[in-house]
Amino acid sequence: MAPHRNILVFLLLLALVSPAGAAPVDVSIPASAPSRVAYGASKIVETLKAVGVDAQVRDAIGGGPQKTTGDLKVRIVSGGSEATNMSREGFVLTTDSAGTITVAGADGNGTLYGCLELARRIKEEGKLPGRVQFSDAPVFILRGPCIGMQKTFILPGRKVYEYPYTPELFPFFYYKNFWREYLDFLVGQRMNTLYLWNGHPFASLVRLPDYPEAVEVSDEVFQRNVEMFRYIAEEADRRGIWVVQQFYSIILSKPFAEKHGLQTQLAASTPVVDDYMRKSVAEFVKQFPNVGLMPCLGEALQGQDNQTRWLTDVILAGVKDGMEAAGLKEEPPVILRTHATEARAVMPSALKVYRNLYTEAKFNGESLTTYEPRGVRQELHLAMSKLGSTHLINVHILANLEPFRYGAQRFIQKSMQAARDRLGAKGVHLYPLFYWNWPDSPDITQTPLKQWERDWIWFEAWARYAWNPDIDATTDRAYWLGRLTDFYGSREAAAHILDAYNDAGECAPRILRRFGITEGNRQTMSLGMTLDELVNPAKYREFPELWESQSPPGERLREFAERDWKKQPHEGETPPQIIAEILDFSARAAAAIDAAAPAVTKNREEFLRLRNDIHCIRAMSQNFAAKAGAALLVLRHGFSREAADMERAEALLAESFAHYRTLAALTEKTYTAANSMQTAQRRIPVPGGISGKPANYHWTQLLPLYETELTDFKRQVAALKTPGAAGSRTHAPLTPAAFTLLSKSAETYTLQVGNTVFSDAPFTITALAPELQGLTGIRFSHETAKAGSAEPIEFSCAAPVRVLVGYFDSRETQWRKAPTLETDASAADRGGAEPLLIHGAAVESLPPINVHAFEYGPGRHKLEVRGTGSFVVLGVVAVPPAPGPR
Ligand code: SER
Repeated sequence: MAPHRNILVFLLLLALVSPAGAAPVDVSIPASAPSRVAYGASKIVETLKAVGVDAQVRDAIGGGPQKTTGDLKVRIVSGGSEATNMSREGFVLTTDSAGTITVAGADGNGTLYGCLELARRIKEEGKLPGRVQFSDAPVFILRGPCIGMQKTFILPGRKVYEYPYTPELFPFFYYKNFWREYLDFLVGQRMNTLYLWNGHPFASLVRLPDYPEAVEVSDEVFQRNVEMFRYIAEEADRRGIWVVQQFYSIILSKPFAEKHGLQTQLAASTPVVDDYMRKSVAEFVKQFPNVGLMPCLGEALQGQDNQTRWLTDVILAGVKDGMEAAGLKEEPPVILRTHATEARAVMPSALKVYRNLYTEAKFNGESLTTYEPRGVRQELHLAMSKLGSTHLINVHILANLEPFRYGAQRFIQKSMQAARDRLGAKGVHLYPLFYWNWPDSPDITQTPLKQWERDWIWFEAWARYAWNPDIDATTDRAYWLGRLTDFYGSREAAAHILDAYNDAGECAPRILRRFGITEGNRQTMSLGMTLDELVNPAKYREFPELWESQSPPGERLREFAERDWKKQPHEGETPPQIIAEILDFSARAAAAIDAAAPAVTKNREEFLRLRNDIHCIRAMSQNFAAKAGAALLVLRHGFSREAADMERAEALLAESFAHYRTLAALTEKTYTAANSMQTAQRRIPVPGGISGKPANYHWTQLLPLYETELTDFKRQVAALKTPGAAGSRTHAPLTPAAFTLLSKSAETYTLQVGNTVFSDAPFTITALAPELQGLTGIRFSHETAKAGSAEPIEFSCAAPVRVLVGYFDSRETQWRKAPTLETDASAADRGGAEPLLIHGAAVESLPPINVHAFEYGPGRHKLEVRGTGSFVVLGVVAVPPAPGPR
């Protein structure tokens, strides 16, 4: 034998027998395995290599049938006989007598998750595991987060939700590295859906031969958008993730609207709008057949019949056109949001024309408040889940958690149990904690933190319990301790940190559900509340679903104060109980996080940020506890008339302000903002956008407000002790303004007791607030307004005016509802978000009337009163001068 041949044989033998040069472990995948199975196999190989074991994927496509014996080490199979009786996305790992590990999945995703589980075990053991026998499958079918293709501000000349896809607005959208990293993170959590949210994405992604004017980005950006959208969908698919695009109704492309003389947001459709949208949807399905659609039938589109028709005849008709054009045989799933519509009324008609409909409803509104959802919201979820299609909970904007870190796995686990057991959901659609500013977190750092890295525990906890909500507490604690030990370098620190997360996480849900105005993003909870908002929440348009659906039964502050005074028994959760609980939980959390500090050895900077957050939650809880206590005393004073109540309230108000000051100091150099949406849709504690510019988004900006509040209150208490000095404040007088009524279907009348408020009904005024006496109202047909067929009221004015619209204080559908920013973000574009007068007028045998004022500039107008149902117009008055500097 020639020497060089000897060497070759020797090397070959060495490669076969010596561990150092061992033959690579074969990871065999079936012929024509989907890309997600190949991805799973590549993760096994990557992990083996990372622990020093050479490995390779053997693709049976080129190598003939998949081997089942011999030197094969890992064999991956998908579906088929080895996966019978396995539930969707399930998998099993087994080792046979020859030492081959088989990963068998029920389907592509099951196989992928089986591969990831094996990779995890390889990493843990530092080698290919000896014997394995393990199976698993998820409980929730759809699991995934959303990304807001939205901004913290409204674009000049645009309305809410209108953001074209451009590199200036969404740089991250164009970074392939970003998507790979983020999608790797999601598949690591075994998430299988990713939602992109936008008002009208079509004009950034599809071109219509019939409406070439509609595209609202440059040609170059359009090409990049299409390329990136395909790339994202493909990379997501490789990881078993289904991309879904959300859109609102009716929002149009701006150039399209301009060309056709339309507004960009419409309360009703027109034939050309129907045609444009149907074609947009069809083209989208044709161009991106693997991307799902998630329509929202509001917020601009009004009226149940309009919405149902829009879904069946425009959106679903467009999906079917697109299916035909793309040659799709099966209906792609369409997920209907139940937001801003009555889904129970829509779904029966929709199911007649389209079978593959999923539904989605908010879990706790736009906050996280309870794992015991009930009332009308629970009924809606149950109605949807009973339809038999897949129903998802949407953990929407976290208006009471932002901007702080949230990792209360205990609360999250119970929430996922509630999603299944109380709501019948089979999927979870999860918002990030700082939604409108994706992907950056609000922390002040040299380079912005990525939200999914900062909030890994938030995403991981929801995904973990969506996979299995029933993990027992001991196993679970061990898991989280392991994760936190990896992150912070010490088991001792990990135990304290987990306790801090869990205890701190009990505070915000309790504060909002018992003291808040709304669970909607109209309120930024961490910015505090004014005393008046706590004492007189009705002035601020309280949203009853907050405490009737998104809270365990209990008493609001006013209710408690009254029962207490009348010595009546209390029911459910009470304000003093919540005050005690948030003080207790936040104190424990702060102590735990401080106790962790000395033991932390890794990621110290992040630990310090977390520690600061926990102290912020402590200060926030103390601020609310003291202020709610003050509010209870003010309410008590309404009964007792004892100055001592007000004095005690003053002391508590001063205490609450001191805690607010601490909160402002803790956040001044650590946070850019308290909330990610900084527009005028924010109303509580104060409007968030002024003249279209972000405002009142940082705690420090509100210090003067709360300081003045305290000073004013002290003055008020002092005045109480000076007989005769405490005059009650009256409403600023309303000055009648000149206007001309142009509509023939309406008439003017004088506001006075005895006059009728409608042109075709006998209802007469029985009482009026003095401010309204003698004003000129406008009356029209009650019946046509109720039926939704009224002509719009046209009028003109030479100077700016405020039109006083009276809403009957009733939940009955015959009455139009005052602006509800929870379901219609543009409803108060002309003002009127809060009532000017509560129960300012009474009409015989009808519910009392709340008066809201809407502003119109000089010129000719159609009165816009959003919604359906009857209402009254109680006058047209001058716009008061803007308040001068204090
Ligand atoms: N409130 C809006 C919605 O529900 C924005 O999040 O769609």
